Amino acid sequence: MASSGRLKPGEKGKIRVDVNIRGKFGQIMKTIQVVTNDPERRQTTLSVKMLVKDLIHMKKYKAAEIFSGACKICHLDRGRSRKGHDLYVNDCMMCHSAGKSALELGAMRTKTREEVAKAVREGVQKTSMPGWDAKHGGPLSEDEIRGLIDYIRPVSINSKN
Ligand code: HEC
Ligand code: HEC
Repeated sequence: MASSGRLKPGEKGKIRVDVNIRGKFGQIMKTIQVVTNDPERRQTTLSVKMLVKDLIHMKKYKAAEIFSGACKICHLDRGRSRKGHDLYVNDCMMCHSAGKSALELGAMRTKTREEVAKAVREGVQKTSMPGWDAKHGGPLSEDEIRGLIDYIRPVSINSKN
């Protein structure tokens, strides 16, 4: 939003820019198109760079904490009543993808079904990977866990087991 709709030649003004930073962390850039009646430069692109601090994740948490309190909305509720691929995308991919803290799907597929099942059920000690089955305080049913294992590590990918 410009401080004035009409600027005389040489006059200065301010532009207010609102940026929706929802879900964004780290360095981000926003570009703003400015259209004027200047015959030589009808359109100018301004850009603002900003550093969005992730206040939620600045502290070190125990893995299981992601199922409680304010963490649930992102780490648990999004996956509710979903299955297989869809569940994976909503509850798992935030950590399991390129540049994140854990292995990508392709890399996980080099593990055996047993290894995958164990990690999903029990979590991985000393990492941010929580255990997802009820025995380890996780939110997923047997059915949901089996669906995830089949999705991550289908039987046909590797005949070992
Ligand atoms: C607004 C959504 C949101 C909320 C709320 C949230 N998280 Fe996260 N969390 C994410 C996303 C997205 C990632 C993936 C990391 C990234 O993209 O930088 C993540 C990653 C993590 C990680 C892995 C970090 C790593 O680098 O290994 C942990 C642990 C974690 N969250 C714990 C928590 C805890 C504990 C809470 C509550 C205090 C919480 N999160 C609340 C969205 C959220
Ligand atoms: C808060 C981040 C986070 C979330 C959410 C998360 N994981 Fe993990 N996961 C990790 C970390 C960290 C490891 C251990 C480091 C590693 O091996 O990549 C791990 C390990 C694993 C492993 C063992 C294989 C491996 O990568 O060594 C499997 C399988 C796995 N996760 C599956 C899942 C599934 C399925 C979900 C969703 C239900 C999920 N993870 C959600 C962070 C996370």
